[in-house]
Amino acid sequence: RMYTLVDQDTCIACGACADTAPDVFAYDEEGLSFVILDHNQGITEVPEEFQDDVEDAYDGCPTESIQLSEEPFKKLAKSG
Ligand code: F3S
Repeated sequence: RMYTLVDQDTCIACGACADTAPDVFAYDEEGLSFVILDHNQGITEVPEEFQDDVEDAYDGCPTESIQLSEEPFKKLAKSG
């Protein structure tokens, strides 16, 4: 299982992740990334077919802002 969220405090709006995983990430009006699936709460399981893309986005983020977990994130993240 995979859960993901974006730390918008460290995201620099580089624009890589939604190119890599457009079904999972999008950008808010400031260009900061958030998870589409659950408004960046990290509580909705990433569908199987998108997990490889999310791994690639995780590896590609220059600021390590994309967080992955096998369990739902409990802390509420800021969303856009
Ligand atoms: Fe931000 Fe990293 Fe995506 S800097 S725009 S979370 S690739």
